[in-house]
Amino acid sequence: MAWAIIVHGGAHPVADDKIDASDRACGAAADAGAAILEKGGSALDAVEAAIRVLEDDPVFNAGYGSALNADGEVENDAAIMEGEKLAAGAVASIRGVRHPISAARKVMETEHVLLSGEGARRFAEQSGVELCDPTELIDEEQRREWEASKKTRGSDTVGAVAMDSRGVFAAGTSTGGLMHKRPGRIGDSPLVGLGLYADNSAGAVSMTGDGEMIMRMALAHRITNSMCNGIDADRASEEAIAAMERRVGGEAGCIAIDRHGQLGQAHNTSHMPTGWRTSEMASAAASVKKEH
Ligand code: GLY
Repeated sequence: MAWAIIVHGGAHPVADDKIDASDRACGAAADAGAAILEKGGSALDAVEAAIRVLEDDPVFNAGYGSALNADGEVENDAAIMEGEKLAAGAVASIRGVRHPISAARKVMETEHVLLSGEGARRFAEQSGVELCDPTELIDEEQRREWEASKKTRGSDTVGAVAMDSRGVFAAGTSTGGLMHKRPGRIGDSPLVGLGLYADNSAGAVSMTGDGEMIMRMALAHRITNSMCNGIDADRASEEAIAAMERRVGGEAGCIAIDRHGQLGQAHNTSHMPTGWRTSEMASAAASVKKEH
């Protein structure tokens, strides 16, 4: 049966000198997920593998190279969900974990859905997730940007959505959140139904952008609901971003796959790097903005 994966590197302007790096990273992430899917592996494993690639690349705000909070420290949010059992796991305001998406995956295997702060880090350590000194996640370019402006501002997020050859869906998100955010601030990314959702009867979606606006609109669930009602992934994505703009304003983007395996995306920012691959394709395609 057919499979598909799409990843994003956040809804945000991409400078000309970052286009190649964004395309390369998104293509590599989609290929990492596809390598699992083409062998009959699960959507969940594919999403985790793809997001780990994006977390390692400082061109994106997740894992290494995350945006710094008001104290100049990295606090990460991440979540993963699968659409068969509606199982989900998430971490929020976690520090000193190299791959927050893998910590979220471990939470999914417990009786809880979301762990935060020091408790989340302790759990990650007990689960064998790779820890690091929190300062090791700081990239020099992010530090320079943080020093240049003291204003809270949107950064970006990474995400992935996949459908495997059994027809199971998964979605994931990972982010450093807003630059200069208040310590302890949690965005949409680790919140099920807001920053991501997966349900085999509809498809799956991963969000990026202004977390406070995405949360107020429950955007991931809104898109899943539209797909459940037969609206294709692309139209459901476009309608949700337009509705957010109308009701609360803000900048955001999303990627989605509907239950027929159709890929969709939308963003009201100038760019949103994406990479995608389906069982029909020999290698991943990538683009820094949606081509209409
Ligand atoms: N969408 C990421 C955040 O607001 O933290």
